[in-house]
Amino acid sequence: MADLLKTRGLLDIESLDRGTIQELLDRAKFFQPGPGETYKRLESLKGKTTVNLFFEASTRTRVSFEIAERRLGGDSISIAAQGSSTSKGESLVDTLNTLAAMRPHAVVMRHAASGAPQFVSRHLKLPIVNAGDGTHEHPTQALLDARTILDHRPTLTGLRVAIIGDIAHSRVARSNIHLLSKFGADIVLCGPPSLLPQELAQMAPGVRLSWNMQDALAGADVIMMLRVQLERQYESPMLASEYFRFYGLRPEHVELASPHVIVMHPGPINRGRELSSEVADSQRSVILNQVENGVAVRMAVLERILG
Ligand code: CP
Repeated sequence: MADLLKTRGLLDIESLDRGTIQELLDRAKFFQPGPGETYKRLESLKGKTTVNLFFEASTRTRVSFEIAERRLGGDSISIAAQGSSTSKGESLVDTLNTLAAMRPHAVVMRHAASGAPQFVSRHLKLPIVNAGDGTHEHPTQALLDARTILDHRPTLTGLRVAIIGDIAHSRVARSNIHLLSKFGADIVLCGPPSLLPQELAQMAPGVRLSWNMQDALAGADVIMMLRVQLERQYESPMLASEYFRFYGLRPEHVELASPHVIVMHPGPINRGRELSSEVADSQRSVILNQVENGVAVRMAVLERILG
């Protein structure tokens, strides 16, 4: 697996084995700063150039990759699709071939089309790091989510995880289902029927579906809320107030979960649609810990691929 990561990059969680995931999580722990410290400055990527190519908007993922690249002593260039020649009609493969001709050592890529990084990877002899592809996968998000859970719980095995929201359009949900099920977590997926595809129950062992928040939250150790992805919904979406009434996380819901439950959200959060401010800003919320762990996890991934 190590060689595949070095040659192909990180395209998904599905094809990673449990040992490789554990090594990345352990290495990310090494990179976590202590209280009042910042991230370690190392030279593992000295002389290595990474291109961060974002065809979709991003704050957390793009900035944390940039910080990770710099903290490891590498050089990086970030490009947004709006400012690149794709806006003049250049194809994805032509854009990637053009960038590859400038001899970077890896490309970090986000794209609205599911499978775009895998497609590019078949055409280029360059490691590709998937920073989120359509509704397919967001592998570094699942790694940072697992790192965050393990900062609060001793193991993922047997953990009851409720993933709630727009499951249909969520690459975060899919990567987390792959990762958590490899470690033996019990997963319940919950959302409105229109956003909860029945076939996801077959994605991995230990996955069940529910349309009912109260049922999904009973005894949960981890509540993972998801953003409603309006940019991927082509039919009239539910009003924010209507969605919040049935699937917005409020303090009374958190009471139904385990007493030590943690509340997660990959961000960006929509207060008053996916969760209330009381919950988002509560002691149970680890949302900013997730953001913090994004840097450590991406340092671990980049070092493994390029170091
Ligand atoms: N979680 C996540 O991918 O956030 P960004 O869209 O801000 O990168």
